[in-house]
Amino acid sequence: MAQYQPPIRDDLAGHTPYGAPQLDVEVRLNVNENPFPPSDALAKALADNVEGAAVGMNRYPDRDFPELRQALADYLERESGVRLPLESIWAANGSNEVMAHVMHAFGGPGRIALTFPPTYSMYPEYARESFTELVSVPRRDDFSVDIEESLAAIAGHRPSLVLLASPNNPTGTSIDLDDVAQIARAVANVGGVLVVDEAYAEFRREGVGSALELISDNPNVVVTRTMSKAFAMAGARVGYAAAHPAVIDALRVVRLPYHLSAITQAVARTALDFADELQNDVALLREQRDELAWALESRGLTVAPSDANFCFFGTFPNRHRVWQGLLDRGVLIRETGPENWLRVSVGTPEENARFIAALDEVLAVLQFDGKGNGGNE
Ligand SMILES: Cc1ncc(COP(=O)(O)O)c(C=O)c1O
Repeated sequence: MAQYQPPIRDDLAGHTPYGAPQLDVEVRLNVNENPFPPSDALAKALADNVEGAAVGMNRYPDRDFPELRQALADYLERESGVRLPLESIWAANGSNEVMAHVMHAFGGPGRIALTFPPTYSMYPEYARESFTELVSVPRRDDFSVDIEESLAAIAGHRPSLVLLASPNNPTGTSIDLDDVAQIARAVANVGGVLVVDEAYAEFRREGVGSALELISDNPNVVVTRTMSKAFAMAGARVGYAAAHPAVIDALRVVRLPYHLSAITQAVARTALDFADELQNDVALLREQRDELAWALESRGLTVAPSDANFCFFGTFPNRHRVWQGLLDRGVLIRETGPENWLRVSVGTPEENARFIAALDEVLAVLQFDGKGNGGNE
């Protein structure tokens, strides 16, 4: 085809689409998916309910999907003990789209979003798409958030939005709820909203709270969640938010009409019916995560304390060599975040064993000595 340069916006020129490599290898532990496919019973229920939705496909879907929102509210009450009305719940095609709604409603030209890198690599894209300026308060070396520095930055920059992933991606670390509450109050003082991205919440360790608990006292707190991880529904694209109804009303202003298809609504409601069954897999993944962290540590590696379904580990003088060595052995993980670290998603017990066996081979080849040496040419 003849060359053509479409009149793309100046600020997008030269940008490439976001995304981790989707390589066809045997063990894929690179995008924090849930490794367990739906059970036969869930797959059958999904098929039946999609068929039910299919016969009404000539009509637009319910724009406000109250039944799904009620089912999500009921689930959150069971999961976190926090009761919210359906008017406090919103959903969209992945928490990515929920976040796009948040950015469009509360960001925009002349407005600032503040975030805490290393963190989810989509935040700069959300900011770019909504013409919101992004400012950062870098995490400490142990990936914790410096609260004093954060409060000062919030008072100084007066962001309309603060984006805080907890548990954080790629580090897996979460932030104490009292600290989140302090940040929420500081953001309220400058008239902003605090978005706590809880994509990995269900994987948090015993005793770690959810920011859902803060919503009743802090109407500027928005908690985003996803069905991609704990519900093993990454392919369905369902994310949701919980917040004060006034916040949800603002999101409804910016959503595209009929954004959540009847199929998606049916799939999400079906998965919610199977929440208890799916929680068993989550429990197994949490156990496996802790075992994986222990296996990495016992090889002399540093592992960030994880409340998610992945481990962030290092440090390597040349992480790419390790990543490539694993890939050569059929195991795909992710090079992301600070440059000496790697992230591995928790897979099935068999996949985790394959990963550790491959890692042992790679570390031996690279003569990694467990003290941060090795891994060079
Ligand atoms: C911190 C965080 N937030 C949000 C998402 C997006 O999830 P989804 O759009 O699949 O709901 C991810 C995906 O990996 C994530 O790591």
